[in-house]
Amino acid sequence: MIKTPRFTQLQLADPGNEQHELITGLTAAAAHFSPKYFYDLLGSRLFDAITCLPEYYPTRTEAGILRNQGEKLASVVPHEAVLIDLGAGNCKKGMSLFDFIHPSRYVAVDISVDFLREALEEVQRQHPDMTLDGLGEDFSTEFRLPSELRLNPETPKVFFYPGSSISNFGPDEALVFLKQIQAYCVKNPKSGLLIGVDLVKDKATLEAAYDDALGVTAAFNKNALLNINQRIGADFALADWAHVALFNTEQLRIEMHLEAVRDATVHWTAQGDGKRTFRQGDRIHSENSYKWLKSSFEALLREAGFKDVTAFTDENEWFSLFWAS
Ligand SMILES: C[S@@+](CC[C@H](N)C(=O)[O-])C[C@H]1O[C@@H](n2cnc3c(N)ncnc32)[C@H](O)[C@@H]1O
Repeated sequence: MIKTPRFTQLQLADPGNEQHELITGLTAAAAHFSPKYFYDLLGSRLFDAITCLPEYYPTRTEAGILRNQGEKLASVVPHEAVLIDLGAGNCKKGMSLFDFIHPSRYVAVDISVDFLREALEEVQRQHPDMTLDGLGEDFSTEFRLPSELRLNPETPKVFFYPGSSISNFGPDEALVFLKQIQAYCVKNPKSGLLIGVDLVKDKATLEAAYDDALGVTAAFNKNALLNINQRIGADFALADWAHVALFNTEQLRIEMHLEAVRDATVHWTAQGDGKRTFRQGDRIHSENSYKWLKSSFEALLREAGFKDVTAFTDENEWFSLFWAS
């Protein structure tokens, strides 16, 4: 009989706080919301579809590095450690490490709890003997490994943060996040972080990756409005909004926005009735995805306290995995 993965759910952000955060963002002079609101169940499925698109090079490039350089990677990353997959999504990248580093236990962390449960059941089917834990957590403000997991602080840990998800943080926030992970690594000299980072490249390639011809990324962006409708009782109408993705060459980041195609008044019922009128052309900023130079990201890891850093890149230097211990 196949085991059922254990699941621990940290108190995800208090719904009242989330509503406050959303309404504050939507009523700000420059309207915005956090990219974490992309990831309800449908959003996670849409992200999976994005990873299959010809324009979306990050997933296949990173998976190629893991496949082609797995042996080299296995010579620096500890074996039989606890593998902690941050923003695990469908867990496929985490699973691809199993044959190389033979983790003793796999802990998958994600905000998209229902999607993570499904993904972990599949991991358990494929690896019936592996000890699996799911951890439902929003780590955008603080990352915590709860005591319920009963992880020995001294056991070697491999934190795995693939998909360039770190890119949703600006450089200062990324540093804070990396320091939190580094603090969990200091108890055992073998512990470390294996992190995937998308590198600066030409604007056309970057913009196409976030604005595909099929319109899947547009659907992913607009689905956040449906998620927000649920969370704050809002009435965003999808037909009023268009997907915009552009590379900001000064900040070295892809920005995703939703742009009003006509004047649109949006109402919500949470936290007292509210509304905002957006004029045609007004935008709501929905995501930043920072692109890094290999040398700058390596410097950031060192600033966070990691001492040894090894980089693994593809032949075009489009994407880099770093092992930092
Ligand atoms: C870009 S996807 C990467 C998925 C997978 N790791 C990969 O590389 O294909 C980002 C993942 O992080 C999760 N995520 C986003 N914001 C999060 C947050 N604040 N806390 C925890 N997980 C989050 C999403 O649900 C999603 O699965």
